[in-house]
Amino acid sequence: MDYLNTLTKMASCECMDAYVAALRSAPLSLLVLGGLGTVVVLKYAMDLAKLVFNLTLRGGVNIKKFGAGTGAWAVITGASDGIGKEFALQLAQAKYNVVLSARTESKLNTLASEISSKYNVETKVVPFDYSHATSADYEKLGAELAPLKVTILVNNVGTNHEFPVSFVEENPAVIESIVNVNIKSVMAVTRLVAPKMVAQQQGLILNVGSFAGLMPQPLLSVYSASKAYLLTWSQAVGRELAPHKVHVQCLSTYFVVSAMSKIRKSSWTIPTAHEYVRAALRRLGNPGGASTPYTSSPYSAHAIMNWVIDRVGSPSFWVNKAYATQASIRKRALAKKAREAGKKDN
Ligand SMILES: NC(=O)c1ccc[n+]([C@@H]2O[C@H](COP(=O)([O-])OP(=O)(O)OC[C@H]3O[C@@H](n4cnc5c(N)ncnc54)[C@H](OP(=O)(O)O)[C@@H]3O)[C@@H](O)[C@H]2O)c1
Repeated sequence: MDYLNTLTKMASCECMDAYVAALRSAPLSLLVLGGLGTVVVLKYAMDLAKLVFNLTLRGGVNIKKFGAGTGAWAVITGASDGIGKEFALQLAQAKYNVVLSARTESKLNTLASEISSKYNVETKVVPFDYSHATSADYEKLGAELAPLKVTILVNNVGTNHEFPVSFVEENPAVIESIVNVNIKSVMAVTRLVAPKMVAQQQGLILNVGSFAGLMPQPLLSVYSASKAYLLTWSQAVGRELAPHKVHVQCLSTYFVVSAMSKIRKSSWTIPTAHEYVRAALRRLGNPGGASTPYTSSPYSAHAIMNWVIDRVGSPSFWVNKAYATQASIRKRALAKKAREAGKKDN
C-alpha cells in the first residue's frame, strides 16, 4: 500500500511533471538516438546471453549419431600429429573405423596400432602428400575410399608460412603448397566422400579453420586467405548439404599446442590438441562463440575471443593490430635465425 502511495505521489510530483515536459520538448533526433541506443544495448545483451547459453547449458549433437559402432568410417587428413591425430583417437574411441592420411607412413602405422589395440576398431593407413597431389593421386585415393561407408570427414590437414613474410618476398613453392594443402585438398577429398554422404542421407564434414580466416593476417597472407576461403566455403556448402542431412562445420580455431603453432605449453587460451578436439566433438552443431552459420568456435576461451573480435573494433583496427603482431614475430624469427647461423659459423 505504501508503495502504491509513493508511486501516486511520484506521478503527481513536480519532478515527474518536469521529466515528462522535458521528454515532450526533446528534439525528435534525441529520442531516435535514445531508441537506437536501447536497441543496440539490447542486441549486445542478447548476443552475450546466447554466448553464455552456448558455453554452458547448450550441448551438441551426439557424435555417435553418424553410425558409430556400425562399421562406419571417419576420414581424417593430416592425422599423424596434432589436432588431426587427436580427431583420429577420439573418433576411434567413439567407435568409428578410421582412415589416417598424412605424409609420414611410420607415424600413421604407429597411430593405427595404438588405435586398434585401444579401441578395437578398423584402421586404414593412406600415406599422401597433399602439397604435390595430382588428379591421378586423388583418383587413387578415391579408389581406396570407395568400398568404405564414410560418414565423417575431418578436413584437418594444413600448412603455414615458415614464419611471417611479405607476399612479394615469399617463395612461390610455399605459396603453391599452402594453396594445395589448405584449399585444394579440402575440395578434392570432399568431392570424393560427400556424394556418398548425400546418397546415404548421413554425414558430418568438419573443416579445421583458423582465427587467421576471421582476421586477415598480413605477412601470413596466403595462409590467412586459405582459412578465409574455408570459412566462406563451409557456409555455402553447409547450406547446400543441410537438406541431405550432411552437417558441415568450420571450426574457428585460435592457438592450440602443436608442431605447427610451435607452442609447447598449454594455458587457459591455448588448449592441448586433446582438449581442443574434446570440445569440438562435444559441441557439434553448437556455434560456441562464432556468429557465422555452419561455423563453430567450440573451445570456451576461443569462443569468447571470437565473440569479441566479431563485435569490438573495426576490421581496419584488427588488420593493423595483426600486422603489428606479425611484424614483431618476424623480427624475432629473423633474429633467432641470425643467432643460429652465427653458431654454425663458429
Ligand atoms: N595449432 C594451432 O594453433 C592451429 C590454430 C588454428 C588452426 N589450426 C589448423 O589446424 C590444422 C592442424 O594443425 P596442427 O596444429 O595440428 O598441425 P601439426 O601438428 O603440424 O599437424 C599437421 C598434420 O598435417 C600433416 N601434413 C602436413 N603437411 C602435409 C602434406 N603436405 N600432406 C599430407 N599431410 C600433411 C602432418 O603430417 P606429416 O608431416 O606426416 O605429413 C600432420 O599430421 C591445420 O589445418 C591448421 O591450419 C591450427
